[in-house]
Amino acid sequence: MPALPGASSIFTWILYLVPLYIFVLSPLLRTIFPSERADGLLGDDDDYDDGQLVPALNTTDDSFISPEDDTPLNCPADEYRVHIFSRTPLVIYIENFLSDQEADHLVAVSEGKYVPSIVYDGVSERVDPSTRLSDRALLERDHVVRCLEERARSFQGWRPNLYIERMWAQRYNVSGHYRHHYDWTGSSRHADRVSTFMVYLNADCTGGGTNFPRLPKPKAPKWCRFIECDGEDEHSQHGGRTDRKQPKPEGVTFKPIKGNAIFWENLRPDGTGYPETWHAALPVESGTKVGLNIWSWYQPPVRRKKGRD
Ligand SMILES: *[C@@H]1O[C@H](CO)[C@@H](O)[C@H](O)[C@H]1NC(C)=O
Ligand SMILES: *[C@@H]1O[C@H](CO)[C@@H](O)[C@H](O)[C@H]1NC(C)=O
Repeated sequence: MPALPGASSIFTWILYLVPLYIFVLSPLLRTIFPSERADGLLGDDDDYDDGQLVPALNTTDDSFISPEDDTPLNCPADEYRVHIFSRTPLVIYIENFLSDQEADHLVAVSEGKYVPSIVYDGVSERVDPSTRLSDRALLERDHVVRCLEERARSFQGWRPNLYIERMWAQRYNVSGHYRHHYDWTGSSRHADRVSTFMVYLNADCTGGGTNFPRLPKPKAPKWCRFIECDGEDEHSQHGGRTDRKQPKPEGVTFKPIKGNAIFWENLRPDGTGYPETWHAALPVESGTKVGLNIWSWYQPPVRRKKGRD
């Protein structure tokens, strides 16, 4: 009777085959047949499994994006100064991204055009003051706005297929805020907000910082010009006792400073979102803050599936 392989020699074979698969076969297969998309960390891509993408970004819809055209621009020279805050994700603090005159202009042209800000939950848009309490005004694409689009675009000059979303001024009164959220959806097969500039147009306020709970606070004291540092909480300097109702937020909080901006990348190279970009506009405690987001969309080149359409 031929001897069947013993249990121990089968075990030995498995011992050889498992690493062979993990280290050789599987990487080889992934190289030959790359998957179309890496799995999103948090984004829910179920809707796109049938190859029917969510409506692609309409790159000629000038009610939503700012298409480049042949309008001749004679923009002032850039006068901003950059400070690299983080490399992964890329976060850059930009001093004087806007001049005082530009910021004042955008605040002025927004007056009288504010409407309540909305939130989008993936299905519908609605006003929800517990999540977001502010007013917003769509900016006409005048010369200052076009120059700002151009500045934002050339700041990201390494990136092709970039579309700047129409800009809205965001006004926050006392208690105005925007709870922690992402600017991206993380569905890497269709257009998404690849980066954000958070620009402060007016900062006659206390509170109202931009908080990133998952970004570590830098230790170097030079950052205290731009971020809230321990022991300098100017709102609670009475007698050294902190009797504030709000707990101190985690992570790093950027102070609203007129003309300055925070730039960050929302997406990894594979199109999935960075969890570190979770951020909030903390409540304004006194005065008014006016902010401006500049969102850049990445529209992947259109790829048609064979046998569809
Ligand atoms: C894109 O937007 C333009 C301008 O609003 C519109 O005329 C066109 O029909 C849109 N295209 C698609 C595919 O929705
Ligand atoms: C903010 O203040 C302005 C001016 O008083 C007012 O018109 C607007 O409704 C306020 N917005 C919110 C969201 O409270």
